Amino acid sequence: MKAGSFSLVLALVGVAAAMTPPGLIPSNTENMTVFFNTSSLATNGIAIAQSAAKNTPTLALDKSLTGTTFMVLMVDPDAGNVGGNGSSAFLHWMQDGFTSSSKSVTVGNKTVFALENTENVVPIAAYLPPGPPTGQTHRYTQYLVDTTGVKGFTVSPSVANSTMTRVAFNMQDFVKQANLTIISANFWKTTGGT
Ligand SMILES: *[C@@H]1O[C@H](CO)[C@@H](O)[C@H](O)[C@H]1NC(C)=O
Ligand SMILES: *[C@@H]1O[C@H](CO)[C@@H](O)[C@H](O)[C@H]1NC(C)=O
Ligand SMILES: *[C@@H]1O[C@H](CO)[C@@H](O)[C@H](O)[C@H]1NC(C)=O
Ligand SMILES: *[C@@H]1O[C@H](CO)[C@@H](O)[C@H](O)[C@H]1NC(C)=O
Ligand SMILES: *[C@@H]1O[C@H](CO)[C@@H](O)[C@H](O)[C@H]1NC(C)=O
Ligand SMILES: *[C@@H]1O[C@H](CO)[C@@H](O)[C@H](O)[C@H]1NC(C)=O
Repeated sequence: MKAGSFSLVLALVGVAAAMTPPGLIPSNTENMTVFFNTSSLATNGIAIAQSAAKNTPTLALDKSLTGTTFMVLMVDPDAGNVGGNGSSAFLHWMQDGFTSSSKSVTVGNKTVFALENTENVVPIAAYLPPGPPTGQTHRYTQYLVDTTGVKGFTVSPSVANSTMTRVAFNMQDFVKQANLTIISANFWKTTGGT
């Protein structure tokens, strides 16, 4: 499939009962590396200053997955309810059209293959940098979805709505309704005012 923006197809789907507990990585079939620059990683819950997270991070995998297309979502499960179960997260970023570069890059001491939006696919939700209230620490969680061969996804109106408004975004419902598979996840922490 040629990488391209999804259209949200609306349909009535039953409400999902399951919920991913906070911080839980649902499945991890690929190791994902996330970084803002090649001098340090933004992985495994490390603290990243608000000032260091202004621009989109780079996501990368341990190997180049030629022929695979990816979508990245970033959510703040602590929006409105710090330490909550993430059922009402804020959607910070939703971008499809990523492919795996065949050229490696070294970050810290790790050699990885970056994901690139070479066709300049317009984001479904453009990256909004972390901006928690001063003194509050939130977990910025990135999910990587394999979209190879996927032409669109069918979600309920309320879930589709929350991808537009970004508020009350339920990742578990979204993934379940859209029938998507998360292949990797990561998070860092940012404290407001840093
Ligand atoms: C998650 O938290 C919300 C708000 O506190 C609550 O309504 C909901 O039942 C919780 N869901 C689960 C699965 O615990
Ligand atoms: C992810 O990295 C860990 C540690 O280097 C390694 O043990 C594991 O096999 C890797 N998983 C995959 C799917 O490559
Ligand atoms: C690189 O990114 C880290 C956050 O991962 C930040 O703390 C550091 O200041 C950045 N370094 C440069 C040179 O921009
Ligand atoms: C890279 O490896 C060297 C030698 O093992 C170590 O001293 C250094 O701290 C490592 N750097 C990072 C960013 O992990
Ligand atoms: C969509 O969002 C708008 C504005 O927040 C709200 O008024 C409307 O009820 C929402 N629709 C659904 C189906 O959730
Ligand atoms: C969900 O996706 C799987 C493959 O990832 C497919 O086999 C299955 O038919 C899909 N289910 C629905 C309801 O679209």
